[in-house]
Amino acid sequence: MASKQNKIALVTGGNRGIGYSIAQGLLAKGYQVIITARSLEKAQQAVEKLQGIAIPIELDVSDDRSIEQAVATINQKVDRLDVLVNNAGIYPDNNVDILTVSREVLDSAMNTNTFGVIQMVQAVLPLLEKSEDARVINVSSGMGSLGGLTTTAPSYCLSKLALNGVTIMLSQSLSSKGIVVNSMCPGWVKTDMGGTSAPRTPEQGADTAIWLATEASRHETGKFWRDRTEISY
Ligand SMILES: NC(=O)c1ccc[n+]([C@@H]2O[C@H](COP(=O)([O-])OP(=O)(O)OC[C@H]3O[C@@H](n4cnc5c(N)ncnc54)[C@H](OP(=O)(O)O)[C@@H]3O)[C@@H](O)[C@H]2O)c1
Repeated sequence: MASKQNKIALVTGGNRGIGYSIAQGLLAKGYQVIITARSLEKAQQAVEKLQGIAIPIELDVSDDRSIEQAVATINQKVDRLDVLVNNAGIYPDNNVDILTVSREVLDSAMNTNTFGVIQMVQAVLPLLEKSEDARVINVSSGMGSLGGLTTTAPSYCLSKLALNGVTIMLSQSLSSKGIVVNSMCPGWVKTDMGGTSAPRTPEQGADTAIWLATEASRHETGKFWRDRTEISY
């Protein structure tokens, strides 16, 4: 069992990119971090590179069975969860627009980026309820804001627009339990998803998520953030 002193966080897709930097930042602040990846091997490789108390877990957020198995393992290792960072995401739009995108591509983006977050919150809710300072951070995108919708990234934009809706609804449902829920945009970040032309480092992209997880006022819930500043949905 994890010690009672450290706060405990779970980061989905924590093996690379922004998720890895969020995990690294939380570890540096003394949090124990459950690093989840789609394969246990990838999670273990990330944990080996990181400093601090990090726990590798296999988790595919698009698969309910995988979520169920991951939560069963997590329950054996920790007795509560203080922070859930829903970072895992995909950008399946490739040479499509809103007039040509297939149902399959729409399904895959919604399943991972949106429905995966709802299922994750449902699955770890009993653990979040045991925290006195529970926070959920959804890694969204400015491309999911009403002013940022882009016809050439239909599935991604719609999945992040819906994710922001999920943030609003979860914040309403969980306020009576004292659980705060926010969306954030990391900006355009140099990762496998963001590509090499992106101006931001993964550390810069991770900053607002780490701030929401650790320092932001607990009065702030149901909002959308970039660079530690509220932005419009
Ligand atoms: N990069 C940007 O410019 C940018 C901008 C705005 C928002 N974002 C958002 O930031 C988040 C992280 O993006 P990134 O740039 O770091 O992307 P990335 O480098 O492509 O990493 C994506 C992460 O998500 C994981 N993942 C994908 N599908 C998954 C699933 N079904 N279950 C569990 N994990 C899954 C990947 O795991 P595997 O290693 O197994 O594939 C990987 O760890 C995403 O939500 C993305 O939409 C990124």
